[in-house]
Amino acid sequence: MNTRLRRLRQNPEVRRLFQESDLQPRHLVQPYFVVSGCGVQKETRPGIGLWQMSADVCAKDALALLERGVGGIMLFGVPDIKDDTGAKLSEQLSTLQRTVDTIKKARPTAVVFADVCLCSFTTHGHCGIVHEGTIDNDRTLPVLADMSVLLARSGVDFVSPSDMMDGRVAAIREALDAASFSQTGILSYAVKIASAFYGPFRDAAHSAPQLGDRSSYQMPANNRREALRELALDEAEGADALLIKPAMTNLDLLRDARERTELPLFAYQVSGEIGMIRAAADAKMFDYDRAMLETLVSMRRAGADTVISYYARQWLV
Ligand code: PBG
Repeated sequence: MNTRLRRLRQNPEVRRLFQESDLQPRHLVQPYFVVSGCGVQKETRPGIGLWQMSADVCAKDALALLERGVGGIMLFGVPDIKDDTGAKLSEQLSTLQRTVDTIKKARPTAVVFADVCLCSFTTHGHCGIVHEGTIDNDRTLPVLADMSVLLARSGVDFVSPSDMMDGRVAAIREALDAASFSQTGILSYAVKIASAFYGPFRDAAHSAPQLGDRSSYQMPANNRREALRELALDEAEGADALLIKPAMTNLDLLRDARERTELPLFAYQVSGEIGMIRAAADAKMFDYDRAMLETLVSMRRAGADTVISYYARQWLV
């Protein structure tokens, strides 16, 4: 035998030296669901890290997490009032804006992402404007652009469109630049699969579609070439970073993306993924933390620079 791979595994220090992919706090982004009120802190399904928090609690929690080295935070606004036109966005975003403001006053360099999508903001729960019974792509673009400018104005560093309308990255870039936010970046959810794994999120974000589903705008899980087109298109439209979700079922696409673009890549370990691991661990099938860390390092190995995961807070707090 002239090859013995066990030579590279013989003790912890040898293994550390030869380690290829790693997972550090800076590689993770923690999502939060920002709700109205004061002193609100509610995990919508215990144990899987989807926290609804009011602005005061969220800002404090996020600052503590950033202090522990987490890469950034991702904010989802969950407004009390719903509106189907986009006319009430500034009112609907006020709690989220207050959160960003508090965080930025305490820590100006905190990296803050905010989701751009209409599903939590409308009565019907679709990600775009509904017109004559369809989700109207081109009527949605200016609303997403307005939302992005409002978020940029409140100090968000990266707006993160997750709606899957065509042309939204270009529309958002143009609106940001026109409003003098040329420094505000776009993390685009380029490959977002119409997935069963978003279930727990929709409770936390109040965003379940009231009729129909999202398959006329989110991507089918069946199509690899279509995913590559989504990635290329968002890059061409000016995205600063690209995101793929869910993560665990799309590690191949993450690897494809890594080989085709030089842009930073994000994976989103979605609510149903962490929920599935929690449920299996609760049923004593395996150790929760070991399983979580294994999935996260697999995403790094597949090509993710950063992983958005509800586990960040569980790991670091
Ligand atoms: C909103 C959005 C969704 C997720 C992130 N942004 C849900 C959806 O499309 O229904 C899912 C995240 C998760 O499940 O953790 N468009």
